[in-house]
Amino acid sequence: NAMLAWQRTAFHFQPQKNWMNDPNGPLYYKGWYHLFYQWNPDGAVWGNITWGHAVSRDLVHWLHLPPAMVPDHWYDINGVWSGSATQLPDGRIVMLYTGSTEDAVQVQLLAEPADPSDPLLRRWAKSESNPVLVPPPGIGLTDFRDPTTAWLNPTDRAWRITIGSKNQEHAGLALVYRTEDFLHYDLLPALLHVVQGTGMWECVDFYPVSADLAADVGLDTSTAPGPGVKHVLKASLDDDRHDYYGIGTYDAGTDRWTPDDAAIDVGIGLRYDYGKFYASKSFYDPVGRRRVLWGWIGESDSERADVLKGWASLQSIPRTVLLDTKTGSNLLQWPVVEVENLRMRGKLFDGLDMPPGSVVPLDVGRATQLDVEAVFQVQAGAPAAGSAAAGAEAPYNCSASAGSAGRGLLGPFGLLVLADDGLSEQTAVYFYLVRGADGKLSTHFCQDAFRSSKANDLVKAVYGSSVPVLDGEDLSVRILVDHSIVESFAQGGRTCITSRVYPTKAIYDSARVFLFNNATNLNVTAKSIKIWELNSAYIRPYPYSD
Ligand code: FRU
Repeated sequence: NAMLAWQRTAFHFQPQKNWMNDPNGPLYYKGWYHLFYQWNPDGAVWGNITWGHAVSRDLVHWLHLPPAMVPDHWYDINGVWSGSATQLPDGRIVMLYTGSTEDAVQVQLLAEPADPSDPLLRRWAKSESNPVLVPPPGIGLTDFRDPTTAWLNPTDRAWRITIGSKNQEHAGLALVYRTEDFLHYDLLPALLHVVQGTGMWECVDFYPVSADLAADVGLDTSTAPGPGVKHVLKASLDDDRHDYYGIGTYDAGTDRWTPDDAAIDVGIGLRYDYGKFYASKSFYDPVGRRRVLWGWIGESDSERADVLKGWASLQSIPRTVLLDTKTGSNLLQWPVVEVENLRMRGKLFDGLDMPPGSVVPLDVGRATQLDVEAVFQVQAGAPAAGSAAAGAEAPYNCSASAGSAGRGLLGPFGLLVLADDGLSEQTAVYFYLVRGADGKLSTHFCQDAFRSSKANDLVKAVYGSSVPVLDGEDLSVRILVDHSIVESFAQGGRTCITSRVYPTKAIYDSARVFLFNNATNLNVTAKSIKIWELNSAYIRPYPYSD
């Protein structure tokens, strides 16, 4: 089936076949980036969870290796679940992960490379001491999973890890353990953090970011707290399947984390991504001096379709993560720079006029693998005297809106990707401005998949949120299009949206790109639109045996 075959991506990481979920234990070792992931060797639905494994020189091209760990002990026979790597100062690697036992209890397990001289880390040895942690009193036997990368606490020079859970009142929380040898652990009396009403915290991530104004480097996970350092706490909310983060301060004396702004605490404020993006994990890349984030991108089609096509899920494009020192209140996520090496033919369009009601085709040739950088300037028309335009508008909510087909005074406008000539299929990536009661404009960034496909066994939604725009800034967006995924980054990565879309007509040579402006009272100029066709990445089995 050519339609199903077309949906496989060309530069996003995917196993050769079957089901994948969370990224696990990312690390850099002896010249290679390693990615492990939750994988079902037996089918395109979740089950039999094993650690898939692949290596890369550049985070773009990948070689598939045999699974790193399979369920083969009483303590992980129900699944080798998510976990994280820690590189010790002496070069040793410890892998901590969750096992679901023969009784489906969640326990923490330790593994180390069986042959540290192998740069590909193909063989892993599970510890004789496993399980190294079992659920503590008061914590449910199935609410104790996904240990983080360890960090060194500077006050006692011992390691800390955190593990997500929930309490009996349905508060999400992060437990902290102290260890010196990764075999013996003490549960600390204080929680790293707890947020009422947020439920089970899966795949907690905890890491420092630089708050120095000009900082463009990431920080090692063990960087001590202090001036110029903030800490990010992320939880994947099992209740609503989104990754939420907060920016705050880590107190190494008490091992507690406090959000800078309680109104945007973990689980109630900011998300890494407003579309499909879950169970993410970051790592520090010592070569690129950056923090790199991976996220699991599930499907929006039916399980039946997944079984037919023989695979389900992608990993996001690895994203560099920095604190946005201009706003101080959000992160910036951006595709790792190596993605730009895939750029082939590029086209530049500048100064294109997009009057209200316009649709402007962009002639870019084949448009199924794209990297787009678009910058817009806007000028609001004068509101007619006495019209609604003179006053404040109702607040906008991407997800509750009519999407790109709705018409407001100052939005929507942006791009249509994976569109056919007749626009019978299209995925809209757009901005929507709203004037508030105080006369100030707020900017929303949305992605609309309502008309992305003629097929009807799909979840089609408008995703999005507000995006900070500072005085004097143009509106900008970067979009990666890769067959069945559209991954977008507004204002340098302040707000990100990932959608899975399954066009039936806008495929192969029929896929096009358009600009559109559906606002009734806003003149938009496409100041600069750069579009590159992206080459396919090399993602294949490791070609040698030994
Ligand atoms: C998140 C998650 C983790 C667990 C793993 C099992 O998607 O549920 O909490 O370790 O997936 O595959």
